Amino acid sequence: MSDARYQHQPLSGEDRTRLERLFGRLQDESAHFLGYPCNRNFDYSELYRFLAFPVNNVGDPYVDSNYHLQTHAFEREVLAIFEQLTEAPAGETWGYVTNGGTEGNHYGLFLARELYPTGVVYYSQDAHYSIGKVLRCLGLPSIMVRSRPDGSMDLDDLRETLRIHRSVPPIVCATVGTTMKGAVDEIAAIHGLFEEFALERHYLHADAALSGMILPFVEDPPAWNFRAGVDSIAISGHKMIGSPIPCGVVLAKKANVERIASGVEYIGTLDTTLTGSRNGHTPLFLWYAFHTTGLEGFRRIIPGCLAMAEYAVERLAAIGLEPWRHSYSNTVVFNRPRAEITSRWQLACQGTLSHLITMPHVTREQIDRLISDIEQPQAHRDTTAAIEPAAAHTAASEPIVLVGTGDDDLLDRVSQALAAEHISIDELTAVSVDEGSVVRVRVSDRPRALRILNEAVDMGRDYGRRSLLAGEQASQLLSRVDYQQAATDAVLVRLDDRVGEFASLAHQCHEAGLQLRTVRILWRGKKTAIAELTTSEPSRLRALLAERVIVDEDEAAGETALPLSNAPKAAGPS
Ligand SMILES: Cc1ncc(COP(=O)(O)O)c(C=O)c1O
Repeated sequence: MSDARYQHQPLSGEDRTRLERLFGRLQDESAHFLGYPCNRNFDYSELYRFLAFPVNNVGDPYVDSNYHLQTHAFEREVLAIFEQLTEAPAGETWGYVTNGGTEGNHYGLFLARELYPTGVVYYSQDAHYSIGKVLRCLGLPSIMVRSRPDGSMDLDDLRETLRIHRSVPPIVCATVGTTMKGAVDEIAAIHGLFEEFALERHYLHADAALSGMILPFVEDPPAWNFRAGVDSIAISGHKMIGSPIPCGVVLAKKANVERIASGVEYIGTLDTTLTGSRNGHTPLFLWYAFHTTGLEGFRRIIPGCLAMAEYAVERLAAIGLEPWRHSYSNTVVFNRPRAEITSRWQLACQGTLSHLITMPHVTREQIDRLISDIEQPQAHRDTTAAIEPAAAHTAASEPIVLVGTGDDDLLDRVSQALAAEHISIDELTAVSVDEGSVVRVRVSDRPRALRILNEAVDMGRDYGRRSLLAGEQASQLLSRVDYQQAATDAVLVRLDDRVGEFASLAHQCHEAGLQLRTVRILWRGKKTAIAELTTSEPSRLRALLAERVIVDEDEAAGETALPLSNAPKAAGPS
């Protein structure tokens, strides 16, 4: 990597700005991440140095290959833990770390087809959308079974269907935690139906993408695993455990896997997995999670998620959205709120229903904010008025904070661009820092404003065509100004641009027992820099660094605020 022949040229200022803007957007959006089951509470920074190697777990994790840059030993340890969690009979299962739940389902159904080429697959209406696609890939005939209103497979319908097709081996793809409602199909009762119709040749795959990492930690869970008689099981790793790269595991009965294994001389191992090259980093992430959070940690975290789900049920019930959940699930289903809310909080929707999922990063405060957003009257959108009265506050009322890094007048351009898009500014603060500026606005339509501010410039610049998402005028105005967007939960501080300045700030935080989650220099002037800090305790951080803080939440309209006409000039890029 230090070889000069492979030295890349440095990124252009424009490219760097794009990356910064992407970072800001991801930070901002992750503060409203309630609808999808991906835990964002993780810190794998200790593993970043392994990204310097082309790690590849190609081939069977249990067989040494000729490709030595691999993490098979760690992968096997992860699999052993999942064997324990799924109550696999000792020494009788095999598995590998996949790219996610979908690949695990593909693998399980692939094994089933190899075992029963004439089989028919039964899956419920509430099964994940990937199942239909996998079945098409595998060319397997299938029958969709009705679901009950609670999301579980309707066993009366399955019984009738099995009765009609008694001559073909059934392959049941049961869902252990349905995507929308968190329901678990009744594995034991499905086995009961095999017995009832004397169906001796059968296969049962469990799609346990999310709940496979919940049920092992729930008191009195429904039957769901190898002990209940499944033949294979797929669980996602990036969901409850959390990982920056999607991943999962699939476990299957060894005897079935041995039927499909074939040796490959080129890699010097067995070709037992679905893909050839396999991610060697994700097994390391999972291993790290099990060795840091540990099973003990998950034993605390998962009941905490269920308690948080119950809190969400109570709050949503109080505002009449008729929420409900399965007692073993952190998925809370409720009547679909308006689009502005589902977009802002990234709530998954199906017909008249929405859900939120209380993953470990979800806090009471976020649920309270969701409720207060829902309760706010719908934003009034007058397409002819450029600026609405400040009283017309919207539901999504968090400010957008921009830090100017260009030659142009940030405040002027941003306010003009928003006006051109008929987005009204309800509140505005601008602060001059050295030659830079910080602009803080509350707007009538925050999601649309963010789209315009984040994407219009990129699209206009990159493709030399008119923005599809924002108006042409806004694009043009914004393409002439450089800025970064600060994260919603960030604290912006002023730093003297001298050696040791940041080290002293970091030391101050450390001494006060405050852990900084991220630190980002948003703008650098001749003598001063503006840094964005995030932490789980922003108010403590604000108090600690009071004299450095820029645009404090509480003093937004205070003495540092500038009137619209007195826009600060942003500095040129350093
Ligand atoms: C029940 C179920 N199965 C499969 C999947 C797909 O998992 P992945 O996204 O890990 O491929 C999901 C994803 O949400 C799911 O809910």
